[in-house]
Amino acid sequence: MSTPNAAVTEAAASITPAQGKLGVMIPGMGAVATTLIAGVEAIRRGLALPIGSTSQMGTIRLGKRTEARSPLIKDFVPLASLDDLVFTGWDIFGGNLYDAAKTAQVLDNDQLQQIRPFLESIEPLPAAFNQHYVKRLEGKTVKTGKNKCDLANQIRNDIAEFKTRTDRQVMIWCGSTEIYMEQAPVHQTLAAFEKGLVEDDPAITPSMLYAWAALKEGIPFANGAPNLTVDIPALQELSKKMNAPICGKDFKTGQTFIKTVLAPAFKVRNLGVAGWYSTNILGNRDGEVLDDPESFKTKEVSKLGVLEHIFQPELHPELYKDLYHKVRINYYPPRGDNKEGWDNIDIFGWLGYPMQLKVDFLCRDSILAAPLALDLILFMDLAARTPSLRGLGIQEWLSFYFKDPDSAPGVYPEHDLFIQNMKLKNTLRHIMGESLITHLGLDYYGE
Ligand SMILES: NC(=O)c1ccc[n+]([C@@H]2O[C@H](COP(=O)([O-])OP(=O)(O)OC[C@H]3O[C@@H](n4cnc5c(N)ncnc54)[C@H](O)[C@@H]3O)[C@@H](O)[C@H]2O)c1
Repeated sequence: MSTPNAAVTEAAASITPAQGKLGVMIPGMGAVATTLIAGVEAIRRGLALPIGSTSQMGTIRLGKRTEARSPLIKDFVPLASLDDLVFTGWDIFGGNLYDAAKTAQVLDNDQLQQIRPFLESIEPLPAAFNQHYVKRLEGKTVKTGKNKCDLANQIRNDIAEFKTRTDRQVMIWCGSTEIYMEQAPVHQTLAAFEKGLVEDDPAITPSMLYAWAALKEGIPFANGAPNLTVDIPALQELSKKMNAPICGKDFKTGQTFIKTVLAPAFKVRNLGVAGWYSTNILGNRDGEVLDDPESFKTKEVSKLGVLEHIFQPELHPELYKDLYHKVRINYYPPRGDNKEGWDNIDIFGWLGYPMQLKVDFLCRDSILAAPLALDLILFMDLAARTPSLRGLGIQEWLSFYFKDPDSAPGVYPEHDLFIQNMKLKNTLRHIMGESLITHLGLDYYGE
């Protein structure tokens, strides 16, 4: 039997090192993307800290509690260095990223001035866009082509050009929320999907064109929006075939982040929940897009699934069967990106006596989302370099980052933030050959 050290050495050696430039390709260069890119540059220059990023600031316990081994995650697994990130992307609005960041109004003017030339040096490429899928936006710089296959191949050409300037690539969708879409026949196999591209099948959305192009090029794809995108058998098939990891969907940033902390707390204490009313006011472009009922439906479905999965009402009908769950998002321009989310939670305890909990989260949407996007970029690149992960398709261990995590067919997704965190850290331990941590701990008390 190999010693733990030999296992660690062997596992670590199987991961391709993170050498050279990591190209980050972002369809949708609005509030989240500009806050991410400006943030990475500010951090690289020592002007700010990567607060909120687990990959940069999180630690991971290794071995027993008595061993006192808790390195930073970025020192434990071979992640790309922030200095090696190179950015490009696509958007329907012309101009450079300094203009886009000014429009987004997330970061202070003083902070933007410090990195202005860097942001001005990045200009989004023309987008594959169709207003049918995002009703509230009008495309200014968009690709034209004879069919969807042509558009997707133009994206592949953009990728090919970027490949000449970078060593590895990752794509992350930070584009607007598309209209609600359910799985259609064209989504069921790769062959049907590729036929649908040529035939302009309406069930193939712009986000799917980017995803297909990335996966065809062997590039991992993460989905920060609630769109169906890679959550279809056709693209899951392509992901496995090309060893190009996928994950999604919908960054778990504000209200749902808190919901997936509170709900497991009620559940483990066997407290009942009669109702959970969540509402938000939001005034950025995302809020404007979500003001359209068809895009809102996509977001609503993503936000609603959470409680059902955590509470398992089929196992606990007395506590959760009649739970009334409502989610609202109201577009309210004066608040810009500084969203306010309220939750009213009606719970009940011993002998059925009712109680209430109110949450008022005055958050900043893109400030919460940017570090999640950074972690996903770095971990998806790690997955692509790791033999035991890259062929799996869906990277369920990254469900920590998503409101509506993708999972294997027939397997329900884990929504509890703490289970997700354990899954993420145990996956990192596993790929590095370290023992998994079960928190059993009996051996501390033996002879
Ligand atoms: N900020 C958060 O906390 C958060 C949380 C979860 C999910 N999200 C999702 O992340 C996405 C981005 O959010 P945001 O606040 O940056 O929105 P945003 O409106 O500021 O940026 C989205 C950008 O995508 C562009 N776009 C739309 N369709 C496109 C296409 N086909 N190709 C290229 N570009 C396209 C738009 O022009 C816009 O600039 C949204 O879908 C949002 O729902 C955000």
